Amino acid sequence: MFTELSNAVILLQILAIAVHSAAAMRIVTYNLRFDSQPDNITVQESLNSLLDPLQQPAFLTLTKEDYHSEWGFQEALVRQVNDLAELFGPEWSWIGVGRDDGVAAGEFSPIFFKNDVKLISKDFFWLSNTPFEPSKFPGAGSIRICTAAFFSTSVGGTQKNFTLLNTHLDDQSDAQRRLGASMLLVRARFEAVRTGTPVFITGDFNSPSTGPDSGAYNIITGAAPPVAINATFADKYAVKPDQLPDFKMLDLRGQAPRRNVSANFATFTGFSAPNDTSSWARIDFMFGGNNKGWTAEGQKAATSLSDDGVLASDHRPVFTDVSI
Ligand SMILES: *[C@@H]1O[C@H](CO)[C@@H](O)[C@H](O)[C@H]1NC(C)=O
Ligand SMILES: *[C@@H]1O[C@H](CO)[C@@H](O)[C@H](O)[C@H]1NC(C)=O
Ligand SMILES: *[C@@H]1O[C@H](CO)[C@@H](O)[C@H](O)[C@H]1NC(C)=O
Ligand SMILES: *[C@@H]1O[C@H](CO)[C@@H](O)[C@H](O)[C@H]1NC(C)=O
Ligand SMILES: *[C@@H]1O[C@H](CO)[C@@H](O)[C@H](O)[C@H]1NC(C)=O
Repeated sequence: MFTELSNAVILLQILAIAVHSAAAMRIVTYNLRFDSQPDNITVQESLNSLLDPLQQPAFLTLTKEDYHSEWGFQEALVRQVNDLAELFGPEWSWIGVGRDDGVAAGEFSPIFFKNDVKLISKDFFWLSNTPFEPSKFPGAGSIRICTAAFFSTSVGGTQKNFTLLNTHLDDQSDAQRRLGASMLLVRARFEAVRTGTPVFITGDFNSPSTGPDSGAYNIITGAAPPVAINATFADKYAVKPDQLPDFKMLDLRGQAPRRNVSANFATFTGFSAPNDTSSWARIDFMFGGNNKGWTAEGQKAATSLSDDGVLASDHRPVFTDVSI
C-alpha cells in the first residue's frame, strides 16, 4: 500500500503530505523525541557518526537516552527544525514558529511540505483564552499552538486546495484539550465554508479516543458538545448557522478501508522496554472534515524502535494516504 510517491508534505510535530498519483497525498504526523541533550553538532557530523549501513547492529542493546543529532527526531525545537529542513533538502519547505514567543523559542508544530504543494496562506494561533498571542491556558502544562495552512496542488491539471491544521494538545489539562478541540473545530468549519475544499487536522492529542480523557476526541468528532472559547476567535471564524451545521471531523483511521489499515494501533509507547506496554495508547490522530472532498485510502502507525534498541521517539509516526 505504501508505495513510492512522487511528491509529498511533512508536518511536525511531524506531519507530512505527499502527492503520489493523480490525486493521492500522504500526510504524516510524528511527535519527535524531545531534544533533551542538545549536542550542537551539524547534520553532516551526525551522518558521519552513523554505523556503516551494511553492518549489522548489536540488536536491542542501546537503551540510554542519546543525542538527537546522532540518530533521531522529536518534539521540534528550532535546532531540530533546521536539521530536518537540511535533511529534507531543497525540494521541501516548512512553516512554523516556536510556541513560546511566536518566533523561535520553544517547541514548534511545524508543517513540512514538498514544493509541488504550494502554500497559499498560513497563520498560527494559541489554544488558550488569548489565542492571538503566545499564551498558556490556566492549569495547562505548556503553551500550546496550532499551525494553520491553506495549500494548493495540481492534480491532473486541475487545481485542488486544502486546509491543514497541525497541533499538540496539553499533556496535563483535560480542560485545555477540550478547549483546543473546540477551537480547532470552529476553525476547521470556517475553512470548510470559506474554501469549499477539504480540511485536515493532525496532531498529538495527548489523550485517547475512549475513556475519561477522551473529551477532546469526542468534541472534534461531534460526539460531545464543544466548550466556550475566546469570543474574539469565535467572531473571527464565525459562519452562519445554516453553513455546514453538522460539521465535524472524521477519524481517518476509521475512514480508510480496513485492509489498508496496517501495522500498529498505539501511537504512543513511551520510552519503556519493548515488553512493557503499560503506557501504550493511540493519542496521535489525523482527521478529515465531513464536508469531504477527500477519500482515505490507508493508514499505518509505523515503529520508532530500531534494531539496535534505540527509540527514535516516545511516539510512532502515523502515515495516512488520502485522495483529494
Ligand atoms: C489501498 O491503498 C492503495 C494504495 O494507496 C489504493 O490504491 C487502494 O485503492 C486502497 N484499497 C482500497 C480498498 O481502497
Ligand atoms: C553551536 O555551534 C555553533 C557553530 O559551531 C556556535 O556558533 C554556537 O555558539 C553553538 N551553540 C551552542 C548553544 O553551543
Ligand atoms: C480573546 O483573545 C484576544 C486575542 O488574544 C484577547 O485580546 C482578548 O482579551 C481575549 N478575550 C478574553 C475575554 O479573554
Ligand atoms: C484555490 O485557492 C485559490 C486562492 O484562494 C483560489 O484562487 C482558487 O480559486 C482556489 N481553487 C479551488 C479549486 O478552490
Ligand atoms: C521485560 O523484560 C525484562 C527483562 O527480561 C523484565 O525484567 C521485565 O520485568 C519485563 N517487563 C514486563 C512489563 O514484562
